[in-house]
Amino acid sequence: MTQAKIVYASLTGNTEEIANAVKDNLEAAGVDVAIDDIDSASPSDFESVDIAIVASYTYGDGDLPDEAVDFYEELQTTDLNGKKFGVLGSGDTSYGDNFCKAVELFEEAFAKAGATKGAPDVKVEFAPEDEDLDNIKKFTDAIVK
Ligand SMILES: Cc1cc2nc3c(=O)[nH]c(=O)nc-3n(C[C@H](O)[C@H](O)[C@H](O)COP(=O)(O)O)c2cc1C
Repeated sequence: MTQAKIVYASLTGNTEEIANAVKDNLEAAGVDVAIDDIDSASPSDFESVDIAIVASYTYGDGDLPDEAVDFYEELQTTDLNGKKFGVLGSGDTSYGDNFCKAVELFEEAFAKAGATKGAPDVKVEFAPEDEDLDNIKKFTDAIVK
């Protein structure tokens, strides 16, 4: 059975909703899914799964959430060759070029870890609406293939 791990950072619940939508879609596709808050996860958790997913909000001015920094730094030195990854996030478009910047930062970290991008990034304005849920479905379909 294909195994996936989702790690999320969420302060007010929007990114948690995104992560749970990913979980539901993956389970519907027959994938075995583990999901954890970033505070209680380690990048080494990804070593034992086929699909590694991070969902994060963006804070400050295009910054990672404080609680995501250690995970982000360790991720870059983890060996995830042969693993598929995907990144999603929630943000606020009023931050302009810094909209969902954490998604791009995590994508770079996964690339340094040697993982292969399995689906296009998903950036959501605040909480996911119907159109976002469609994009999240496309994301999971792509990553499972
Ligand atoms: C102080 C502060 C700074 C923020 N900075 C950014 C930012 O740089 N870029 C962005 O896209 N969103 C930014 N946001 C918006 C949050 O990422 C957005 O509200 C998101 O939906 C929160 O996700 P959560 O509900 O999972 O915590 C900021 C929000 C706050 C309160």
